[in-house]
Amino acid sequence: MKRFLLLTLPVLIIVAAGFMIFGLIQAGFEEDKMMDDLYRKASAVAESAEVSAALILTNNNLKAANNLVESFQKRERMQGCILYDKKGKVIAETKRIKGWQGSERKYIKDVITTGELSKGIEKFNEYTVYRYAIPVKNDNGRVLGAVELVYDTSYVFSQLTTLWKRIGIFSILLVVFTMLALLLLQRQIFILPVLRLTDWFKKFQKGEINTNIPIKEQDEFGRLISEVEQVALSLRVARRSVSEDATRRVERTELWTEARLKTLIHARVGDNAMIIVSNREPYMHVRDEEGKVRCITPAGGVVTALDPIMKASGGTWIAHGSGDADKLFVNSKDKLGVPVEDPRYILKRVWLTKQEEEGYYYGFSNEGLWPLCHMTHTRPEFKQADWEMYKTVNAKFAQSVLDELPVNGGFVFIQDYHFTLLPKMIKEKRPDVTVAMFWHIPWPNPEVFAICPYYQDILEGMLGCDLLGFHVQYHCNNFLDTVNRLLESRINTETFSIVRAGMETFVKPFPISIEDDNYGAKESARYASAGEKMKNEYGLQDKIIGIGVDRIDYTKGLVERMLAIEALLDKNPQYRGKLVFVQIGAPSRTHIKSYHDLNSALDAEVERINWKFGDGDWKPVIYLKRHFSQEEIIPFYMIADFCVVSSLHDGMNLVAKEYVASKEKLDGVLVLSTFTGAAREFGDAVLINPYSTVEFAQALEKAITMDPVEKRRRMENMRATIKNNNVYKWAGDIISQITGLKKQA
Ligand code: F6P
Repeated sequence: MKRFLLLTLPVLIIVAAGFMIFGLIQAGFEEDKMMDDLYRKASAVAESAEVSAALILTNNNLKAANNLVESFQKRERMQGCILYDKKGKVIAETKRIKGWQGSERKYIKDVITTGELSKGIEKFNEYTVYRYAIPVKNDNGRVLGAVELVYDTSYVFSQLTTLWKRIGIFSILLVVFTMLALLLLQRQIFILPVLRLTDWFKKFQKGEINTNIPIKEQDEFGRLISEVEQVALSLRVARRSVSEDATRRVERTELWTEARLKTLIHARVGDNAMIIVSNREPYMHVRDEEGKVRCITPAGGVVTALDPIMKASGGTWIAHGSGDADKLFVNSKDKLGVPVEDPRYILKRVWLTKQEEEGYYYGFSNEGLWPLCHMTHTRPEFKQADWEMYKTVNAKFAQSVLDELPVNGGFVFIQDYHFTLLPKMIKEKRPDVTVAMFWHIPWPNPEVFAICPYYQDILEGMLGCDLLGFHVQYHCNNFLDTVNRLLESRINTETFSIVRAGMETFVKPFPISIEDDNYGAKESARYASAGEKMKNEYGLQDKIIGIGVDRIDYTKGLVERMLAIEALLDKNPQYRGKLVFVQIGAPSRTHIKSYHDLNSALDAEVERINWKFGDGDWKPVIYLKRHFSQEEIIPFYMIADFCVVSSLHDGMNLVAKEYVASKEKLDGVLVLSTFTGAAREFGDAVLINPYSTVEFAQALEKAITMDPVEKRRRMENMRATIKNNNVYKWAGDIISQITGLKKQA
């Protein structure tokens, strides 16, 4: 509309102004014509009255004078006549204009003395009148007096008003017709071709267009469209040839790298780039305390693992836009290219209302499913209103995914417990799409899962997947048991799949990992010098340094960790003044009471232990409670002699892997809870039961005193595990598995 007004307004102003000027000229012309008519009429009438007036004045016949002036009484348009004697005194005047000569009028004297006529426009009461006065002369040419005629000119103005009204109506009609004509013209030459081009592009994006069918447009616009079409065509051809080339190359490489994954994706997923769905977005625009906007990478396993995958594969990541400045950075389709400084894939942000976020994220996901799946003795809460919001938000995300899918096929990869209903919602609308889901947290046994009042909907929703992944076989088994016990279905224990309602869902373990090269290997010198800076900043020179990096979550065993540090220092006073444990804690879900309480409990524990052992400048725990970027965390990993991961229950825990990946010098020890998925892969960590403070403290002592050779051996083994099982392998396995299943089908 704005553009249309911009185009039409100047034209309309010119048309309207032209018409106004024409109106002014026409009105002036009409006015002149009417006044001229009046003048002629007045002069004719005056001249005819002059003869009678001369006789009347010569004979001083007052009765005849009155008769003469009254003969004007009945004429229309307020016509009147006044007879003056040679002194300019009124002898007789038409009743209707009595008082016209209220004051003496100089021009009558002039008429009598000069013998010349006088005319003009005057005001009489509320009327505008035209007066016309001529001298009355006898046969000798002597002036006997004067006769004056008075006309009402209002009809002139009323006729002019009528004329202006007509001009006004014509102007409006002209403006309306011009607008309509311009609208039609604009639609024909601009809007329709643009709509056709947009539609063509939309279809091209979704793979619906057979590029051999061109758009038929003529002229300059047509040429532009044809050029665009050619670019699109070349892009498609290039993509296809890359994909075919990739198919040939995929089997040749050994170790999993970004390039190998890229090749696999081109070969197996091809043109239909991946769509990832998660609750947490990988890049979040937030305002800091000073109101400055920063783009941060939120803490959590999903983002750590999947961002490198998406950088390799391209495609679209759909997530909740939860940053308070997120809306400032998206285009009209709520999308932006990320990473912002070097865009490699598309982030599509989905907006949620406060109520939706409250019910779906804080409520059902994190007060219900999260404690249900983690054995930490926190009671899950299931509220009907939260469940309703959870369903609404799942439907919202389903629509967002459906909007992005290509016309044929497509690959949707859903993350985590926030979207259990999404697979079915997508499959119902698009059975041709491949849907995989990865469950990043543990899956409990059937008795525990059956606590959830909505277990049937949840399981049915998840069984919309072609492939369902967990970190470890144990969680797969729990899931198969749960479905077996709670749903009518057929479990195939040989293929690890579930058949229900004519659909087969494969359930497999895929231990998630990290992009190991990203943890200092590439820029070790820079990170090492940053590590030295940290040592100076926090007074860590010559200290035994421990590190913990966690979201502040009750599953992470943070209070248990503090108790173990206390027990260690109680039992080993020689470490007082020597040992410093740096705890980095990213505040998380603080809106939920259990998290709020945990924050207070942890603050209190840190404070208590530091007070108990603190001496001068030294205190045993440095608690850094804020969000740290990966860049900031790596130097801490590098300088730490040991890292503690003490989760009470954890799907995998990628901090354990990040620490190992950062230890290029092989000079660290990982203290790891046996209740993490990572413990299955890291037999060389010092394994602990975080519930046993004594055992935990002994493990810390073991880590501190471990022989450097032993440290190297263990670290080497763990690093080899990550090298062979990095995140590219994780994604590669999932994609190979799912595309393999499709081929078999
Ligand atoms: O690992 C489980 C998980 O929910 C992930 O999905 C997420 O990356 C992480 O925890 C962080 O949680 P949140 O997104 O609620 O801050």
